[in-house]
Amino acid sequence: MSITKVFAPAKVNLTLHVTGQRRDGYHLLDSLVVFADVGDRITVMPAEANRLEVIGPRAAGVPTDGTNLVARAADLFGVPVHIVLSKHLPAAAGIGGGSSDAAATILALSDLIGDTRLPEGVSELGADVRVCLMRQAARMRGIGEDVAPCPGLPPLFAILANPGVDVPTPEVFKALEDKQNPPMPKRIPQGMKAGAFIDWLATQRNDLEAPAIARSPVIRDVLDALADLPGARLARMSGSGATCFALFETEDAARAGASALAQAKPEWWVEAAKLS
Ligand code: C5P
Repeated sequence: MSITKVFAPAKVNLTLHVTGQRRDGYHLLDSLVVFADVGDRITVMPAEANRLEVIGPRAAGVPTDGTNLVARAADLFGVPVHIVLSKHLPAAAGIGGGSSDAAATILALSDLIGDTRLPEGVSELGADVRVCLMRQAARMRGIGEDVAPCPGLPPLFAILANPGVDVPTPEVFKALEDKQNPPMPKRIPQGMKAGAFIDWLATQRNDLEAPAIARSPVIRDVLDALADLPGARLARMSGSGATCFALFETEDAARAGASALAQAKPEWWVEAAKLS
């Protein structure tokens, strides 16, 4: 057996419509999800006993015990491994850091043991793990288990910005007053140029934005700062926050905006990213 390395991209909810609530409390969603070219890195090696090491610029505070989603994902395989998680994404941030790490761990272990069948228990790791296993633009419905690829979207240039507040997902869902909002249209437009597609996205929503801002008002500041950047066409929150994104028509505009914002707000996590 050899060493396997897998990239764990940030997921971005371009839209997130909350369309209902199940009896067990989970919310029904209709969300368009894409993936960024920024993310964490997972390295998996065969070992005598399980070991999880967390390194990288965002390693502080990340658990290295069995509670880490990476460890829980590896446990599904019952094979002892040494995992190195290189953490670049902020945690509890609405961009699927933990879910994407878990998905990458599953892909790495599948590769290592030479069996691509998904182990039992994947869904219990979290609602976003399924879409993160897909790693391509997808429409996510149900509580996250119903994922379908969404081809034909233009690549988008973005800035991701996080002000450094943890936002616990259950609290934001709980604070959402109206649980029954309209879904996205049946057909998501395909084959559009970036500008027209961003115009269409602007007609859609993230229903968790208002309750997340009510809990953490700094998210409003992030959205305003992103919207004020030259060339920013749309600013919205991803997932349950606190990470927000702005969309641009050109890579140059996104990169220039990211430099300016990082300078103005050195305490924020700011990255230019390509989304696809
Ligand atoms: O599945 P995950 O661990 O990401 O979800 C965290 C929490 O967010 C859940 O325990 C639940 O309170 C809330 N949630 C929800 N509806 C969803 C996904 C998450 O209410 N579709």
